[in-house]
Amino acid sequence: MPDEKKVKPVEDSKKEAVSDKTPSEIKKPVRRKKKPVVLSKVKEKKPATKSSVAKPVEKKEIITQDSEEKPQPVESAKVATEPVVSTRPQPPREPSPRRHRVDLAEIKPNIKYIAGLKGKRSIVGLTAYDAIMSKLVSKAGVDFILVGDSVGTTLLGYDTTIPVTIDDMVHHTSAVRRGQPGCLVVADLPFGEASLSFDRLLESSRRLMQNGADAVKIEGGKDVADDIEKLVATGIPVMGHIGLLPQTVKAIGGYRKFGSSREEADSLYTDAISLEEAGCFAVIAEMMDERIATQLATQILPPLIGIGSGDKCDGQILVTHDLIGLTPSPLPSFVKPCASLGLDGLNALTGYVQKTRSNPIAKK
Ligand code: KIV
Repeated sequence: MPDEKKVKPVEDSKKEAVSDKTPSEIKKPVRRKKKPVVLSKVKEKKPATKSSVAKPVEKKEIITQDSEEKPQPVESAKVATEPVVSTRPQPPREPSPRRHRVDLAEIKPNIKYIAGLKGKRSIVGLTAYDAIMSKLVSKAGVDFILVGDSVGTTLLGYDTTIPVTIDDMVHHTSAVRRGQPGCLVVADLPFGEASLSFDRLLESSRRLMQNGADAVKIEGGKDVADDIEKLVATGIPVMGHIGLLPQTVKAIGGYRKFGSSREEADSLYTDAISLEEAGCFAVIAEMMDERIATQLATQILPPLIGIGSGDKCDGQILVTHDLIGLTPSPLPSFVKPCASLGLDGLNALTGYVQKTRSNPIAKK
């Protein structure tokens, strides 16, 4: 009787392999199968025009490899009977300016430039919501500006980003564009815009793009990947956003770190890969376990831009108002402010008010 090998069921051996790993070693699930993109336009072949077929072609003989075959003359549509050959010496031809190859990665601002920075140097993004801040952060040298829906908590007095509307975002995006920044402008799709329907998402993205955005940002991973793929196919560049999603703060019950458990780490990996495959040019990783963010940055092609996810991502983004001390609410623990503009402004304004109050006034 042949030896009966005990073969463990596949499920059991998988389980063992997973339980051996620490949460910092991400399980690699099978990549999402690509669906055909419905919206991509198929380039129609242009019918041959008269001018394209009627070029005079020199009569040539084709030397075939088969020596048995007789060389056949190529029949041109219109054969020049007497080729005009100039006998005068010709000056060297200047290459037509239209033929110059343009390296898009060299031109700022565009998504290729941002994507091309991966592995070269750390990418820097900051938020702006108006023309003045747009000018300032651009002059400071950022690679991109995010018109974030954090405008709700920093400027508009809301306690979350949820009340921010697409009209708010269009208003602030066009203000940022009027500041004429010399960098990429990415605008946030606010709460609900990515979950109603694809048509709604497309329409809202169109409004942002036609009012100054170079790209849009969408919160969510695998769940929104199919819609992102369709948006990208229409020509709208998309930045992804995974980890802590501030628009879901009511559902998750508060702000916290993501990726510390095995399950969450695997789910973040699937999210990141889904966004890469959907065509995101960059992905924001918010409040992610530092070890997981570091691994993800090396495993996906688009740059992983961190916020509260450690310093080993491909770049960093912060809310400018937090950074320069203009946020009235308590700051997230990962922000180290580099100025106290709120306090300095308050002191300056208080001084002005007191001085003006003590001005002599005309008495009746
Ligand atoms: O709205 C925003 O400012 C953001 C950043 C926190 C990444 O999404």
